Amino acid sequence: MKYNLTEIVELIKDRRTIYPETFGPRKVHKEQLELMLEAANWAPTHGHTEPWRFKVFSDGALISLMSELAEIYKEITPTEKFVQSKYDRLFKRAEQASFVVALCMKRHDHTKITELDEIMAVAASVQNMALVATAYGVGTFWSTGSIQAERLKTYLHLEEKDRCLGFLYVGYPEGEWPNGKRNIWLNKVEWNQ
Ligand SMILES: Cc1cc2nc3c(=O)[nH]c(=O)nc-3n(C[C@H](O)[C@H](O)[C@H](O)COP(=O)(O)O)c2cc1C
Repeated sequence: MKYNLTEIVELIKDRRTIYPETFGPRKVHKEQLELMLEAANWAPTHGHTEPWRFKVFSDGALISLMSELAEIYKEITPTEKFVQSKYDRLFKRAEQASFVVALCMKRHDHTKITELDEIMAVAASVQNMALVATAYGVGTFWSTGSIQAERLKTYLHLEEKDRCLGFLYVGYPEGEWPNGKRNIWLNKVEWNQ
């Protein structure tokens, strides 16, 4: 056996979505985020396009990002569906998260690779980040709110065919590491012989 399978499978099962509201005051180090980003770069990539692009926000830039996300939420939400606490929550997240990473996809002009493949490659890279974070005891939350908004693309300086696939909030949870829940894997598998 090349690696410790028991530990690896435990790590995979232990990766949790951990909301910024449960992050404590302990800050994640830049070096930890760097290892997460390095691991992200080793995701599989059809045609070696390596379409993942990450924009890291912290400190003042994070405050600006969260206020932009709050304004976008207000702008795209019909008045009757607007929830003030959701709007306020976005501002608070700037204080709760150590970093927020915009998860972007670079769409190359001359490529036969489908957009779906590029999106899947970015998703795989995000999972790599989350697994490294889990090994540190660091929590991550992948949020996809407001990512369709044109205004967000402008804010992130994305080109026409690029996409933002969400935001990864990174921070140390204060309390207990949450338990996960899944339906049995056997019921999702069809064996063909
Ligand atoms: C692509 C993607 C987008 C997600 N977006 C959101 C989101 O916008 N809001 C949210 O509360 N959770 C979001 N999640 C997290 C899921 O709610 C979470 O993965 C699920 O509840 C299972 O929990 P676990 O990650 O702890 O196993 C997203 C997850 C994925 C993979």
